[in-house]
Amino acid sequence: MSRRSFVAVVVVMAVTVVVLATVGRGFFAPSNDAQQATVVGKASIGGPFQLIDGTGKPVSDMDFRGKYMIIYFGYTFCPDVCPTSLGEIADALDMLSPDQLEKIVPIFISVDPERDTPEVVGDYVTHFHDRLIGLTGSLDAVKSVAKSYKAYFSKGDVDDVGNYPVDHTSYTYVVGPDGKFVTAYRHATPAQDMAKSLKDML
Ligand code: NI
Repeated sequence: MSRRSFVAVVVVMAVTVVVLATVGRGFFAPSNDAQQATVVGKASIGGPFQLIDGTGKPVSDMDFRGKYMIIYFGYTFCPDVCPTSLGEIADALDMLSPDQLEKIVPIFISVDPERDTPEVVGDYVTHFHDRLIGLTGSLDAVKSVAKSYKAYFSKGDVDDVGNYPVDHTSYTYVVGPDGKFVTAYRHATPAQDMAKSLKDML
């Protein structure tokens, strides 16, 4: 079975043990050996958040009820993983009809609030898609939402000029109009596969 058709099957059978086991395994940091085999139920992924958008306005998950949230955690200084993921998400969004797009809110949540101020995040997302909303917040707020999605992140060593990497989970999460977790796409899931999956659920 090709990788692409495998992804398609996974998407069609969104509630299979395969998805849960695969997603669950990926959701844990490498150091979390004891938990790697744990199967995470869909009900336990996601949760409320209180963050700040690119204009400095407080935003909560409740503001997006009635729409599908596509959530990606990352940071604007990310050299490759985040731009790649956001590029694929943007391409997938462009494959949807205007009506379908209307039902979706794509959200980028910074895991580097120290550098990613509301202004920085707000500007960053415009480079990918005009629908993409950038959110940041206090470190505690960001930690809290990342934890609820079982997304891992860790600040790396600061170099001579003050730069540092942030290691982070690179899943793209889909949350339904009711606020419940629907599915997650692995890093480097092709835009076509994401678009197909989204079309099927819209
Ligand atoms: Ni990144």
